[in-house]
Amino acid sequence: MEFSQRTVTCGDLRKADNGKKVVLNGWVHRERNHGAIFFINLRDRYGITQVVVDDDASSELQQTAAQLKMEYCIAVTGTVRLRPEGMINPEMATGEVEVKADSIEILSTCATLPFMIDEDNKTKEDLRLRYRFLDLRCGGIQKRIALRHYFVKAIRDFLSARGFYEIETPTLIRSTPEGARDFLVPSRLYPGKFYALPQSPQLMKQLLMCSGFDKYFQIARCYRDEDARGDRQLEFTQLDLEMSFVKRDDILLLMEQLFGQVFKDVVHYDLPAHFRRIAYKDALNQYGCDKPDLRFDVLMQDFDELAAASSFTVFHEALASGKGAVRALVAPKTEGVEFTRKYIDELEAAAKIYGAKGMAWMKVADGKLSGGVTKYFAGMDEKVISTLGAHDGDLICIIANEKWKKCCVSLGAVRSKLGKDLNLIRPGFEFCWIVDFPLFCYNEEEGHWEAEHHMFSAPQSQFLPTLESDPGSVLGDLYDLVLNGYEVASGSIRIHDVELQKKIFRICNYNDEQAQEKFGFLLDAFKFGPPPHGGIAPGIDRLVMIITGQDSIHEVIAFPKNTVGVDPMDGSPESVDQKQLDELHLAINYPKEDRK
Ligand code: AMO
Repeated sequence: MEFSQRTVTCGDLRKADNGKKVVLNGWVHRERNHGAIFFINLRDRYGITQVVVDDDASSELQQTAAQLKMEYCIAVTGTVRLRPEGMINPEMATGEVEVKADSIEILSTCATLPFMIDEDNKTKEDLRLRYRFLDLRCGGIQKRIALRHYFVKAIRDFLSARGFYEIETPTLIRSTPEGARDFLVPSRLYPGKFYALPQSPQLMKQLLMCSGFDKYFQIARCYRDEDARGDRQLEFTQLDLEMSFVKRDDILLLMEQLFGQVFKDVVHYDLPAHFRRIAYKDALNQYGCDKPDLRFDVLMQDFDELAAASSFTVFHEALASGKGAVRALVAPKTEGVEFTRKYIDELEAAAKIYGAKGMAWMKVADGKLSGGVTKYFAGMDEKVISTLGAHDGDLICIIANEKWKKCCVSLGAVRSKLGKDLNLIRPGFEFCWIVDFPLFCYNEEEGHWEAEHHMFSAPQSQFLPTLESDPGSVLGDLYDLVLNGYEVASGSIRIHDVELQKKIFRICNYNDEQAQEKFGFLLDAFKFGPPPHGGIAPGIDRLVMIITGQDSIHEVIAFPKNTVGVDPMDGSPESVDQKQLDELHLAINYPKEDRK
């Protein structure tokens, strides 16, 4: 098709271009008709330029201008001129000029729009996703997708400059247990056999280390059949990275340098040279979770001793077995927020979601305790107030539970709610490392130990002698990177010893035969001189979501699935023809409720 091709973009023109003959291509963002004069805001990826069809324009041009509607795709040939005094728009980069049109070609027309193309589209999400190609025309999301591009490019540049190779690994692999459920792909050639889409390239990158590649990375697509939520997608992207001959601190330092550089170049934000390191146990004790938001300073405190000295039997019972805990936090007096009964009930409800039976509380007024469980602390006002560092007007929140973790996590939920409600959260980016994770957690339902992270992470060496006798107390050589309350990366030093790897499999309920069947290729590789190695995988979507201040990962992915795993645009997942099923030797066994 013949058309006038652009000589400049809609974001280019400035005062200095006055008098220039130009051709613009783009979409009609808005159009206004003042009598015989037409104003057209023409938009492309680069910006918006005002085009004017004057009242002395030819009748042909006037007629074309009169036909224009929002989102018509057009070519405009014309001359740049300065906008008259008083018509300058300081909000627009091109706001000092306009283009007087000599001719307009309609390249394509546009049907009635399902929603307006705005800076940020506030339409219901499913409608946005149904017409994602239009939603992506909105300025806000275009900026986020652009930032994502520069973010990934900066990562590639940084790592290439340090001798890393980017190596692709297969997306059709053997199904191996890695934590989530696999997406399976039936094999046409081998009836009854399946490939799996990788949950991450974990084993492949370890094999690359066994092959001597030494420093590997990949911007890798990962697939996990798990419930979607705000910061999760079924398919997502990791910066997957692995190095040989390294110890934990080498990986942590590399990541600090990488994010320092990338945040400086792309986000224009200076990070500290090193990120705080918090042991898993301390994170739970002080923040009530293993992904603490450090942007506000309310810390949870030990209340065991004060609880034991009180006359409240609920506290005594929680401590009786020696495995429980009582912890407290002080919600600071805040302008505009009343610690009413109703609000305290809301805090308690947040704690109950995480298993708390209730939340005890006391207020501080005139240097004394009041309300809630105060009667159980007779004569202890000063001790409680000074131990917790509370002040008049503050609210003390206390949770007791016979399980330490439940106590921490439920008070952590109260902390998170307070951070938001009391507006305590500082702007900015606060990274930290969580280290010294337990290597195993106990699966109560199935009655066996399983890996906290994955089965390829090494135990810290001091726990080797008690690995099998006391798995619950073993700490792993593993680490998470946390940003503003989100886990943004996870990694570990790996096992590279066959016998140790088999031992871990056994503890996680895989006998030698099952381990050989599932992971034989890894165990084989470990027989041929594997190097010590370790790595990490930051989640790209999650990082870009946080950097761009979004609450949902969908806002930084061009074509995401919705929260129930559906793409409202192409309708996937969808049924396939019987012929396709036959070729794959598959028959569908519908769940009972779906049978016609
Ligand atoms: P892990 O499973 O912890 O570790 O994942 C690493 C990081 O990937 C991101 N992430 C996700 N992002 C979006 N949607 C999801 N469903 C999702 N799941 C995970 C998170 C997370 O921190 N192979 C190991 C890494 C390693 O040991 O090197 C792994 O995949 O940001």
